[in-house]
Amino acid sequence: MTPEKLMELAVEAMGHSYSPYSGYKVGAALLCSDGTVYQGCNIENSAYSPTNCAERTAFFKAIYDGQRDFQAIAVCGGKDGVITGTFPPCGVCRQVMREFCGQDFLIYLHDSQGGVQQFTLADLLPQSFSL
Ligand code: THU
Repeated sequence: MTPEKLMELAVEAMGHSYSPYSGYKVGAALLCSDGTVYQGCNIENSAYSPTNCAERTAFFKAIYDGQRDFQAIAVCGGKDGVITGTFPPCGVCRQVMREFCGQDFLIYLHDSQGGVQQFTLADLLPQSFSL
């Protein structure tokens, strides 16, 4: 699975977004070590704080299914589904990644040129907390 192919699945997942409040559609595609991909979208709520990000939707679907080994996640998003630049994971999603992934877990972000930027979890969550 190439980063570009995983990103295509993240772009597809944006189409499932439930985001009537912010208008930001976000998609994620999580690659498990066995090759399975879980897609996720953001799911908003009128009370705001129950909103779930695309990355966590993908992780929670995978965890429920018994997946525990993860290689990479592709993330993209934009207002009204138009990608104008990278849409980096929020701090809460980074910490959820840390719960289930090592520091070498890969995070692919869609850039404004249609390319894919690559980071590790260590890049995006240095000095992270883990028991
Ligand atoms: N959002 C995500 O889906 N992932 C992130 O990592 C950051 C934020 C969503 C939440 C909300 O529905 C919208 O983006 C605007 O904040």
